[in-house]
Parts: sequence; C-alpha cells; structure tokens
Amino acid sequence: MDAAVTREAVREKTPAEAVGAGCRPRPFFGRYHGVGNESFLRDVQKRDGALSSGRMFQKQLLTGRGFMSAPPSARQVALDLLASVLRLRRPLDDAIEESRAMQELAGRDRAFARLLVATVLRRLGQIDVLINECLKSPLAPRAAAVHDILRLGVAQLLFLRTPPHAAVATSVDLADVRGFASHKGLVNAVLRRLCIEGRERAENQDAARLNTPDWLWQSWSNAYGKETAKAIALAHLKEAPLDLTLRDNAEEWCRKLQATLLPTGSLRRSAGGAIAALPGYAEGAWWVQDAAASLPARLFGDLNGREVIDLCAAPGGKTAQLALAGGRVTAIDRSPRRLERLVANLERLGLPIAPLAVDALAWRPSAAVDAVLLDAPCTTTGAIRRHPDVPHLKLPDDVARLSVVQENLLRAALEMLRPGGTLVYCTCSLEPEEGGERIAALLRNGAAAARRPIAPGEFGIPPEWVTPEGDLRTLPCHLSEYDGLDGFYGARLVKLDSP
Ligand SMILES: C[S@@+](CC[C@H](N)C(=O)[O-])C[C@H]1O[C@@H](n2cnc3c(N)ncnc32)[C@H](O)[C@@H]1O
Repeated sequence: MDAAVTREAVREKTPAEAVGAGCRPRPFFGRYHGVGNESFLRDVQKRDGALSSGRMFQKQLLTGRGFMSAPPSARQVALDLLASVLRLRRPLDDAIEESRAMQELAGRDRAFARLLVATVLRRLGQIDVLINECLKSPLAPRAAAVHDILRLGVAQLLFLRTPPHAAVATSVDLADVRGFASHKGLVNAVLRRLCIEGRERAENQDAARLNTPDWLWQSWSNAYGKETAKAIALAHLKEAPLDLTLRDNAEEWCRKLQATLLPTGSLRRSAGGAIAALPGYAEGAWWVQDAAASLPARLFGDLNGREVIDLCAAPGGKTAQLALAGGRVTAIDRSPRRLERLVANLERLGLPIAPLAVDALAWRPSAAVDAVLLDAPCTTTGAIRRHPDVPHLKLPDDVARLSVVQENLLRAALEMLRPGGTLVYCTCSLEPEEGGERIAALLRNGAAAARRPIAPGEFGIPPEWVTPEGDLRTLPCHLSEYDGLDGFYGARLVKLDSP
C-alpha cells in the first residue's frame, strides 16, 4: 500500500482513483474459477446473473400502481448478514434466525446466502489481502459496505462456482442498490482485476495462516505444534459434512441414506439439503450430531436404570445418547427456548427424559445421582468448520471468562454426584484452558474426584485421540481421509468419598 496516502486523502479521491493503477477496468475474460460442489449454485447464479443485466428489474418491480422495492436478493441478504457478524458481532446462526429477509428467501436462495457469508468468513484473511493489494489506499470507514460487497464478490470469483460475469455484475449492482453508486467503478475494477489474477494469487497465499487470527494460531501451535496447527487451520476451509448418530441398524440406514459409515459408528453425508426430508427422520431413526460430539457420552458405558443428569443439555444430541444407553435422564438447560428444542428433538426420537429449565450453578437434585454429563459452554473453537464466524467473534478474554464458568460448573456437577458416580466433562474447544487445564486445576485444588482414564481402543476411540493423561482429544484434522471431525475434549472422573 502507498504509505503516503492517508485516509483523509482517500476521502478526497473518487472511488475509482482509490484503486491501484493496475486495477483499472480491463477487458473482461470470462474464465470460470471455483472449487465448490453445491449443485444448486449453478441455477441460482445463472438466474442472478441474468437478472443483473436488467438492472431496473433488480431494484424495482413494476406493479399496477407504479414501482415498488423488490424483495432483497440472496446477495443483499448475505451483505446484511456479513455486516451483522463483522460489525455488530452477532453469531451467524443468530443473525440468520433474526433476519426476516433471510426467512423470506426461497430455500435455494437461503442456502446460497448462507454459503456466501460462510465462504467470506472462512477465507476472510486471504480475501482482504487480495482486495488490499488492489487498492492504493484503504476504503473510508463509511464505505464499509463497499468492502463487504468486494469480499462477497471475491468469494464468488475465487472460491465458489460463480461465473465471473455474474460475480462482477451482481456486485456492481449491489453497490448501486445500496447507495454506493459512486463506488461502482471501484467494485468493477477490483473484481475484474481479480478475475484475471486472483486465482493464481490465491493459490500462492498461505491460506492456513492468513485465515487464522494470531491468538488462535499461537494457541494451537503451543498446544499441538506448528504442523498440527496448520492442519487444523486447513481443515477449517471446508464446510463440515452432515453426521448422523443412529439408534441402531447402522448398515441398513447407511444404505438407505446413501451415507458413509465412519469408524466411530456415525453416518456421514455431504452437507446441504433438507434434513427433515431424509429417510428415517420422521420415525426418529437418527439425529444430527458431529462424529466427535458423539464420543463423550459413550464414556459412561451402560447406563441401564441409572440416574443421570445432563447439565447444559440443549439441543440434546448427548441427552439422546444417554437416554438410549438406558439412563433415567434429567436434562437441564438454563435457556427455556433451547430446552424447548431439546424436548421437540427427544419427542421425535421417542426417548423419554425429564427436562428442567434451571441454572446448573444454583440448582441441586434432591438425591445424589449415578452419573453427570457436563458439556460446558465454551468458545467453540473446535467447531469452526460449522461456525466460521467463531474466529472473528471470539477473543482471548472469552477463553478466560468461560474458563471461570467451566470451573464453577465442574464443582456444581461434582456436588450432584454420589461417591463412586461418574462425571464426564467435555467442551468443543481446542483451547487447553477449556480442556485439560480445567481438569488439572480441579484435581490440583483437592476436588473429591479422580480421573478414570480412557483406555486406548475403548469404545472404538483410536489411541491417537487419547492424551497421555487418558482424556479424549479430537482435532478437526483427525479422520482427514473422511473429511475430518470437530475438535472435542472429554475427561472421565470418578467421585471419591473425600478429597
Ligand atoms: C455446548 S451447549 C450444549 C450442547 C448439548 N450438550 C448437546 O450435545 O446438544 C451448552 C449449553 O449450556 C447451556 N448453559 C450455559 N450455562 C448454563 C448454566 N449455568 N446452567 C444450565 N445450562 C447452561 C446453554 O444454554 C447451552 O444450551
């Protein structure tokens, strides 16, 4: 970047002048880039590309009474969702749930809007470097939406199957529709330049490092070594597949669902499509749960007739496992809304449980129980494949804050357990502070508990997923031949009579 050009100076320039010399509009060469595999993309993008050539149609609909605003397109919705995540710091799933415009899109457009935002979030580091290299000076803060339009455009050009003309034309239209007509030339110039040079440049980037915030890179390098940190970061570039936990008859359902049976016993399909339309959904033959998330609840073994408390239970994937293993399960969550979802999920599966909307820190059972599962709230850095917003929302402070919550919940969980009873603690975090360090601190501080290490091969858990202390530690780069799995930590403790 030209160091002599300040932000003030940029304000005085026209947007086209703010583009680097090499970024002047060039003749358009329609090469087709991209790596996605979503079949719906072709149709959505063909249609949107055609629409963008009839600009007026995109902006306004002719009605009997004159012109009125058209409903937002998938790209407009994606632009708003991106702003919600990056500027309002809303989790992507919450932003989607709160977006009326998203709900009003047709199914395919909804999927496309989500894919656009998720792709930008997964590749944000790479995309911003590519954009910045095309700009002589940074865009003014009031043009933040233009930056987001460019990000969406680059994601389409380089990482999705968008025909270049559609990526460029719809981005230019988006600038126009959103009141940035004066930036249309800049959007056009940057994207056209990247149509030509972008792919090669992107291939030469260090994608793992650029798309990972410094603090996470440092944390994973310290905990797992540099090579593994890189493998973890590379695993985050792909969308997670759809994993299902079965009630029984794995082979039969594997065939019916045209899925792959993983060594862990879960079924795997590629992501996308309507889950409720899949065979076996209505009759409750399976539920959605990442293969790694299905491991902690198995550490209890047979729970037949046992009193079990599932603390922090919603939406209930692990609750279902505990009930299926024969436990008499009390499912606790402090969020009544999330607990409602749990109840609906368990009803579909026909598994009886007792739901309770209370705060686990304050509530205690009338009698001590045989088993407690504590799937504690955490930073979810183990599930970045599913939640690509996490690296852009979470900070080291969140790790510190949640570590305190986890410590308090661990102590509460032990108080609910009878001597000899089993506690399984787990988090979907890659941060040691939310995993092994919590258990080490608990035992060091004299809690009436001892670790019951996982034996290598126990419940089919491969030895490389078991730490030297005997805890579960999966990483997104594990099971790479099947497209990876979430990063989960799990420890199994036994309650002692006294410390
Ligand atoms: C990681 S999620 C649980 C996922 C769930 N175990 C599953 O497998 O589907 C954490 C849950 O903990 C709940 N939670 C957080 N703090 C809590 C507390 N103090 N008491 C009860 N529930 C809590 C949240 O509402 C959230 O639903």
